[in-house]
Amino acid sequence: MKRRILYTLFTATLLLGSGCKPLFDIRKAMYDQPKYETLEATDFFGDRRSARPLIEGTVAQGQLRLDDHLYQGLEWIDGEQLQARTYPFEITMDDLKRGKERYEIFCSVCHGVSGYGDGIVVQRGFPPAPGYHSDHLRNMPPGYFYSVATNGYGKMKGYASQIPVEDRWRIAAYIQTLQRSQNATLEEYEAALRAQSSNDNHLDSTHDHH
Ligand code: HEC
Repeated sequence: MKRRILYTLFTATLLLGSGCKPLFDIRKAMYDQPKYETLEATDFFGDRRSARPLIEGTVAQGQLRLDDHLYQGLEWIDGEQLQARTYPFEITMDDLKRGKERYEIFCSVCHGVSGYGDGIVVQRGFPPAPGYHSDHLRNMPPGYFYSVATNGYGKMKGYASQIPVEDRWRIAAYIQTLQRSQNATLEEYEAALRAQSSNDNHLDSTHDHH
């Protein structure tokens, strides 16, 4: 009985309500148009998915990576594409400072701040990371360090998802700086000192003139 009253009331509201509707409701028309709801199945495609996967090779706007030197760490050398022996952009002192900072954040925990493979997690029992001061690694080109930082090596994971492209190059440059710092000849060291002091004198003399 109660049910019946409710039902009558309901139909009455519907009838009354519909009386006030405009003839054509544009919003409702859009709502009711034939369309797929999110992830709804379809018979139109063989795999029955209405949401289609990206076409292979799709590149989002602004994400085209044509520069193999910058992105892959590869350079054309004697008609072959090899690990880059040069940096894709000029490495300034600021780049080295940024490389040092990034290296110390991401790499030093295993490879050690000076690159001897004695980082803190290794000291606490993590499988040892190699030092950078072996002949094998000293002779590697910049593109090699970029590639290891990008893709990983053996047990070490890649850092492409955490460290942006340019910073990976800056880290490579800093590793090569660490290598030089631990393996310079006396002549190189003295030459560097001379270059530095003549640089300082030069700076002093420019100061005097102004
Ligand atoms: C969690 C520890 C860990 C971190 C962090 C780490 N590495 Fe490593 N790395 C290793 C280990 C372990 C190996 C040796 C892997 C193997 O031989 O299977 C290695 C190997 C290497 C090598 C040597 C490849 C060769 O030819 O011998 C380089 C270069 C290197 N890492 C660079 C980096 C750089 C650059 C970073 C920071 C972006 C980094 N690593 C961060 C553990 C680490």
